[in-house]
Amino acid sequence: MNAEHPSIEPVAVAAPKDRAPAEKVRGGWTRRHLVGIEDLSREEIETVLDVAPQFIAVQQRGSGIKKVPLLQGRLVVNLFLEPSTRTRVSFELAAKRLSADTLTVTASASSVVKGESLHDTLANIEAMHSDIVVIRHAYSGSAQILAERHASHIINAGDGSHEHPTQALLDAFTIRQHVRKYREDPNAGLDGLRVAIIGDITHSRVARSNIWCLTKLGAKVVLCGPRTLMPAGIERMGVEVTSSLQEALRGADVVYALRIQVERQASCLLPSIREYIRLYRVDSDSLRNAPEHALIMHPGPINRDIELAADIADGARSVILEQVSNGVAVRMAIMHLLANSPRPAA
Ligand code: CP
Repeated sequence: MNAEHPSIEPVAVAAPKDRAPAEKVRGGWTRRHLVGIEDLSREEIETVLDVAPQFIAVQQRGSGIKKVPLLQGRLVVNLFLEPSTRTRVSFELAAKRLSADTLTVTASASSVVKGESLHDTLANIEAMHSDIVVIRHAYSGSAQILAERHASHIINAGDGSHEHPTQALLDAFTIRQHVRKYREDPNAGLDGLRVAIIGDITHSRVARSNIWCLTKLGAKVVLCGPRTLMPAGIERMGVEVTSSLQEALRGADVVYALRIQVERQASCLLPSIREYIRLYRVDSDSLRNAPEHALIMHPGPINRDIELAADIADGARSVILEQVSNGVAVRMAIMHLLANSPRPAA
């Protein structure tokens, strides 16, 4: 290097002072991507849940500085090619709180509308040196195919009706937080809990990721909904299935209502919204079948008074906004773990 031709080597970023030793933080984590919960072991899921509390603490700092420099100098790109409020904002905030540079690309404001392929879009983003790419896409398997071909860490933020892994992780974290408080046991897990998931199971990536996650953590999952919205053979995932809401709610520690996609009515999978409400709405009447302590959860966005009564969504047992708050810390934990995963052999 000489003065006329300065080095174009990247500027070395000093190791942040509050960065814990990598091995200690990683807890044996070796994955470069988060594509789905199906691939994860119980230990890997628990690593994410165990790393997240340090990021809850960052968000609750009294000093007002709710940031740590763990991803300083890294670029996180949110590639959201389907609508999203919670997940997109949560990832963006999580990346900012880790001090990363962030960019958000949405379908309508990108060259995807001009017909550019997903691989080409990502190749161009990577030419600008992205480190982590968060992808939401309508195509099931999109995150996997990107992870196979690209160098950035890929995080699946929802792919078609396949998986929504960060939703399941933040849900499990929220449940575990409440179980630990309720039982006054800081080590309590989800083993033996009964979780009722109600609604359109067939089209729900949230349901699929939650089934994998909750069963791996030892919970008993019962699925409930109209037969037309229940995949044939879903019992093979180790769950119980019923079309009776009363039966599903009996003994449930967690009642998880899914968003009913009203467009399903057009494809005749729902007899009518009125009929769905009569049989499957989680409300004060149907909740008489559930224990007093049952938590009410929903991934959002809620169709108020369709799958979930508004007073229950806003009521004392609802932890829906806690899910959203915890989502930032859980996503910080995931990005931190992935960014510190070992590099593949050259
Ligand atoms: N829960 C969830 O995925 O919400 P968004 O579609 O708003 O991201």
